[in-house]
Amino acid sequence: MLRRLHPVQPDSFAFTPANLEWAKGQISKYPEGRQASAIIPLLWRAQEQEGWLTRKAIETVADMLGMAYIRALEVATFYFMFQLQPVGSIAHIQICGTTTCMICGAEDLVAVCKELIAPAPHTLSKDGKFSWEEVECMGACANAPMAQIGKDYYEDLTPAKLRDLIARFSKGEVPVPGPQNGRYAAEPLSGLTTLKDFESGKKQYNASAQLAVDIGDTVKRIDGTEVPILTPWLGKPAKAAAPAAKVPAAKAPAVRKTTAKAPAQTTADATTDAKAKPARAPRAKKTDKE
Ligand code: FES
Repeated sequence: MLRRLHPVQPDSFAFTPANLEWAKGQISKYPEGRQASAIIPLLWRAQEQEGWLTRKAIETVADMLGMAYIRALEVATFYFMFQLQPVGSIAHIQICGTTTCMICGAEDLVAVCKELIAPAPHTLSKDGKFSWEEVECMGACANAPMAQIGKDYYEDLTPAKLRDLIARFSKGEVPVPGPQNGRYAAEPLSGLTTLKDFESGKKQYNASAQLAVDIGDTVKRIDGTEVPILTPWLGKPAKAAAPAAKVPAAKAPAVRKTTAKAPAQTTADATTDAKAKPARAPRAKKTDKE
């Protein structure tokens, strides 16, 4: 597939102050003379901020890294994860079309996108709110068919579920990501068959869906204030992140009931817990006599 820059480009690009600080932190990871190694994270952050990669963004990143524009353009045009044309103002929907998802109905999901968004991929819907494309396997095959919407995965989809998701996003809601058919994660649809009595203290949603709900940035354009900017290698303490914007998370899809009632645990809590728990003693080695 030929990947070209979009014919209509904005006149300028600038990182937000927080994104610029984050970008400088990324560059500082690399030894002198190797700053070009930061090209992918910086291009990615530019895309997260703007929704797509503009020529000015690519050139700005190249200037920051002391690279020739053509080198940065080579990277931006090579990787399909970089959007070289404007995407929907609410969300860009990526439908997985690889084997498992295809067998489980991805073509029907693509048909929904063609009908509700635009007949061709990488094209804005009439209201400019959505765009879509078909992508390769995104590693959630056990929950096929699935789509990535913004940052997060929406799994176990049906055409009706996808229609509903698009309608809710259109109204400004951010539906809870993860399985959309009541599964907690990737366990059998009929329920667990082993370890049924094990109480893991799990949260309301599976780990990635819970993080999406906690941070609330599924379809947000990233300005760098969402999470603390961490540069421990520079010996700087982490700056506190601005409180996450309240996302009107819609009612969760049917979620398998858990006995865990504990409130959502933060990453910091999890780290503390991990430290508090004594490490398991290594198992004694079996001898030949045993
Ligand atoms: S085939 Fe769709 S996620 Fe793997």
